[in-house]
Order: sequence, then structure tokens, then C-alpha cells
Amino acid sequence: MPSHTPLVEGIDLTDPASFSDGIPHPAFAAMRDADGLSWVPGNDEFDGFWNVTRHADVVTVSRDTDTYSSAAGHIQMYDIDEDALEARASMIDMDPPIHTRLRRLVSAAFTPRHVQSYQEDIRTRVNKALDDLEAAGGGEWMDLVAKPIPIGVICDILGVPQEDGDYMIELSDHLVAGTSSEQLPADAYGNTTDLRLLPFGSPAAHGVNEYARDLADRRRNDPGDDLVTKLLEAEVDGEKLTEAEFSRFFQLMIFAGNETTRSSMGHLALNMAEFPTEFDRVRADPSLVPTATEEVIRYSSSILYFRRTATRDCELNGTEIAAGEKIVMWYAAANFDPQVFDNPQRFDAGRPTPPANVAFGGGGAHFCLGASLARLEIAILIEELVRRDLRIEVVDDPVYVDSNFVNGLESVKVRVV
Ligand code: HEM
Repeated sequence: MPSHTPLVEGIDLTDPASFSDGIPHPAFAAMRDADGLSWVPGNDEFDGFWNVTRHADVVTVSRDTDTYSSAAGHIQMYDIDEDALEARASMIDMDPPIHTRLRRLVSAAFTPRHVQSYQEDIRTRVNKALDDLEAAGGGEWMDLVAKPIPIGVICDILGVPQEDGDYMIELSDHLVAGTSSEQLPADAYGNTTDLRLLPFGSPAAHGVNEYARDLADRRRNDPGDDLVTKLLEAEVDGEKLTEAEFSRFFQLMIFAGNETTRSSMGHLALNMAEFPTEFDRVRADPSLVPTATEEVIRYSSSILYFRRTATRDCELNGTEIAAGEKIVMWYAAANFDPQVFDNPQRFDAGRPTPPANVAFGGGGAHFCLGASLARLEIAILIEELVRRDLRIEVVDDPVYVDSNFVNGLESVKVRVV
């Protein structure tokens, strides 16, 4: 973290504390309104970066992987050494064509059509969570509802035994903590690897690697009808994935399939409490579930940003960008761009789509692999909440995850009414 605070529009975007009450809307609005892109100056520890906050610019950057690379630098705002970049890289840190070849290995499991086959399993999980919530009359929404559903679903898809779900949540939580001011001891989970070389700079990544190695051994001896078995059997250019490539794939899927959807489900409780009449509309007309789902996803913007690095001198919205400079795409700002979303601060359960929000990215090669799955999980949760006629009151201030990368929630205490 930087030794002094580079402020843009009165906010230090490099500091997780700037996000401790959620998305900093006034600062993002000022950045969107200013000419061109705003620049966060660097210092001794931190190179500066451009902020992309308008919807159209996020779409442009996302779709031009030749100019705005995911492989040329880190995809988070801080820099890491070349050897660390190489050691940590999964497909999200790569450019086409290698990215395309890797993504093809897993894409069939996440097509809109294929995810429909998970519907029954998701509904069972949702109803179990809501039974627990109702029986308790409320409680910690994150523990009772938002956490168990996404991790259970992704564990099933990967072939991780359900009893290991809590351990996966624990590891995934620590990976996020690697982006915040909270740090685990370097030797946690028996880690002996230089933290620089681990995803999120976190020893929890070592824990995930060890778990992935062990699961791979089990699946080689006892193959299943799951994604881990498919990954172990798959070939890229005639070669199987190396142990390290497999572990990084596994790590990406566990983190991405769990943390993000859980955050959006946490925000759903806040939305229901804050905008009850919008959910009355869905109750009266369940055909609004798809647009309400999209609105929860836009409103939560559970990944705040991803970064690209310019491969050549270029120009974006009147700003000259030099080759090698960093560009941070703030999805959380673009999703409230009034040029695209009418009265963006209003939660509108019937908001028309298109225009699409960019919570899953602005399109192009890296567009979220799990978008259809996340949408289905959130839609089924809304459907069942509405069908049961449950109303949610939030009884304490929500506690946000200490991060400037995810808009996560640690605690949302609710009462069911
Ligand atoms: C509300 C939930 C979710 C949100 C907001 C979200 C958001 C994102 C974003 C912003 C990206 C990067 C897009 C880009 O760089 O253009 C991404 C990529 C990705 N997401 Fe999601 N995601 C969610 C759920 C999921 C789920 C359930 C999975 C399960 C597999 C998943 C798997 C991935 C993967 C593997 C990538 C990397 C894709 C690539 O590099 O080709 N995500 N997601």
C-alpha cells in the first residue's frame, strides 16, 4: 500500500477503507463527469493508473484485448514482478489465443443451456437455506443464505465433496483478505512459498493448491462426472494441464464461483429492506424476476474493478494513454452511469435490459464465464423469497468486506417479517 495518499475527487482508490460503506458514488460521479479519464498519481511504492468510469469506455476497453492486455501486467491495480505474474497466472490473466484455448476447456459447463440442468439442485439449496432462515425468524443472512448456496453449487460442479464446502469458503475469504489491509501470517496453511508468487499474495492460495493437488489425485484414481475430472483429462494442443495449471484453474473457479455471487445475494437482502415496494412489484408479477435479478447484479456490482495494461500508445475518451500504462475499469462506477441507466440510484425491479450492466465485464474475451450460473442462482433465490412472501428487515449496520476489489459483505443481520 502507498506511503502517502493519492487522492482523486477526494478519495484514495488504493485504500480498502474508502469502500468500507460500499460503492463511493459521489467520487465516481465526479470522475464520470470530468473530461477524459482521471489519473491516480503513483508514488515510491505504487505506479499511477487511469480510471475508466463511464459505461461506454468500460465496454471499449473490455472488448479490445490487443490494446488493453490482461497478460502484459497484473489485473489488479498494484504491480507484481514478472516471475510472480507467471507463477500466478490463470486464464483470467491471459490474452487470446492462449486464453481462448484454456477457456474452451470449461466453457461447456457454463453455457446458458447447460446451467439450466443445475436448476433443481439450486432450488433445493435455496429452499434449505430459506427454511433455516424462517425457522430462526432471521439472523445472519450471510451465514444462513448468501454463503451456503453459491459454494454448494460450485463444489457440486467441480466435484468437491460437500463436507469440504466450509473449508473452501474459509480459503476463498482469505484470498479476498489478500486484497485488503488484513493479512494472514505468511506461513498460514503450512505455506513455505514466497508470498509474491501466490495469487492475491495470500498463503491461503497455498492451501487451495494443496487441496487441489489432493483432489486431483483422488479423481485420477476415482474419476467422476465433474469438472475436475474433465480438466484432468482435457488436453490443450495435445498436452494435459500441468499440476500448476490445474491448481490455478481450480483456484479461479472456487474464488469466482463463490465470493461474487455470495456478495450479490448479500446485497439482495439490503435491496429488499431498502426498496420493499420494488419487491412487492415482483410478488404481484413474477415475470419481473429476470429484470429484478439483473438490477440486484447491477446494484451490487460485486467485483468493483479489473485492470488492463496498454500494449501501445492509444487514446480513450480524449485522454492519451502511453504503452505500459495501467487502466482500471471501475464496473461499480459504469453501472451507475446516467448516460446509460435512467435515474441510476433508483432500484427498479423492472428496469429494461438492454442496456446491459457491466457487473460481469463489458463483454469480449473475458466476459464472466459464470454469468448464466450466477443469474440463475440469484433468480431462484428471488423466486423462492417471493413465493414464500418473505419480507426482510435489516436490523444492524451491514459490515463490508475490507477490500477495494470486491463489494463483499461480511455481515447483514436480518429479521424476517
Ligand atoms: C454476481 C456474480 C458474478 C460477478 C459480478 C462476476 C464478475 C466477473 C467479472 C467482472 C469478470 C471479469 C470480466 C472481464 O475481465 O471482462 C469475471 C470473470 C470470470 N468469472 Fe465471474 N462473476 C460472477 C459469478 C461467477 C460465477 C458463479 C463463476 C463460476 C464459475 C464465475 C467465473 C468466472 C471466471 C472463470 C472468470 C474469468 C473468465 C475469463 O477470464 O475468461 N463468475 N466475473
